[in-house]
Amino acid sequence: MSDTARLAFAGAGNHSTQALYPCIAQIPEFDLVAVCDLDAAKAESAARRFGAPKAYTDVAAMLDEAQPAGVCLCGMPDMHHAVGLECLRRGIPVWMEKPPAWDLAGAVELVETAEAAGTWGMVGFMKRFAQANAIAREYLDSGELGPVSSITLMHGAGRYNEFRRMLLFNGIHMIDLGRFLAGEWVTLHAFGAQTSAGTQAISVSFTLECGGVGQLNINSAHTWQDTFEQVYLTGSGGGLHLESGRDLEVISQKRRFAEGRGLETFGWSSRYTTSHNLSGWFSSGHHTKGYWGELRHFARAVLGQVEPVATLEDGARDMRIIEGILQSLETGRSVVVADVR
Ligand SMILES: NC(=O)c1ccc[n+]([C@@H]2O[C@H](COP(=O)([O-])OP(=O)(O)OC[C@H]3O[C@@H](n4cnc5c(N)ncnc54)[C@H](O)[C@@H]3O)[C@@H](O)[C@H]2O)c1
Repeated sequence: MSDTARLAFAGAGNHSTQALYPCIAQIPEFDLVAVCDLDAAKAESAARRFGAPKAYTDVAAMLDEAQPAGVCLCGMPDMHHAVGLECLRRGIPVWMEKPPAWDLAGAVELVETAEAAGTWGMVGFMKRFAQANAIAREYLDSGELGPVSSITLMHGAGRYNEFRRMLLFNGIHMIDLGRFLAGEWVTLHAFGAQTSAGTQAISVSFTLECGGVGQLNINSAHTWQDTFEQVYLTGSGGGLHLESGRDLEVISQKRRFAEGRGLETFGWSSRYTTSHNLSGWFSSGHHTKGYWGELRHFARAVLGQVEPVATLEDGARDMRIIEGILQSLETGRSVVVADVR
């Protein structure tokens, strides 16, 4: 079996050319065989800069000719949905940026289409691959903290005028990170504020399947230059604090908590910080933030080396929570997440 996966990429706009394509040369398993964008100049520029042999302006033509083993998608939600369905129906696994669709129905259609075609997909929840978040998960898996008793998720970004867009484009990352660390939500109650043009905030209280409780504060009262992200999680007899997926502080009765998966961890009291000593290319953020990790995982999953994670099913679960928050904002009532359609 080959040790590289023949992968194509559709979408060569801002985010993909800044954060995603630059990772590919550093992923040994990722063989970029074709690039597609509706805009020929963007497709050709990305193909030339990132080493794909051919550029296309039509996804179907690319799939027919290049015969990729998997496809990455980075467009707007309607593109993820439509092009995702086209790939999945052909039995081709996809990795797509978030959100997977504009609404829950679209996200569920992707899950069902993948199942029917016997294939699978991943969604770009790179926070699961950010170093400190991954180590936090490893620590939780050690059982040292016991079940999660509470989680607080905070995110501040630049301006948004609509609750739905703020939740779809930024909130979804924190919701997915919250599920990654603390598991499924059961009920939620949301309050919203729109205090001036472009400045809005949503505060959500929720209960967790594991018996704990949580809070989400997502707002557009911050800046785009430097977004704000923190997670505070408690178990029993300790807790952890995450800063932007980069720093992890563990408050624990144990001295050393994890191997760190090759990363340097240090500290001899009860608090730990992941090393900032990540030199060269890695310090530019692509590795730290998780972009490299999510794309490498996709390539390895296509090769059958690992199971897909941050799946289309996760995307649909996150979208169900978003629709639940919007329903609670509209009705002023609590919502049972499993009942949201
Ligand atoms: N995870 C993150 O940190 C992060 C950060 C920024 C953006 N994003 C996501 O990235 C996505 C793209 O954002 P962007 O700012 O790069 O947008 P963009 O508009 O700059 O890029 C999208 C590109 O997709 C192309 N496209 C659209 N339909 C297509 C089709 N059918 N076939 C081929 N190409 C097609 C467009 O021509 C465009 O070049 C968004 O969904 C956004 O949520 C994620």
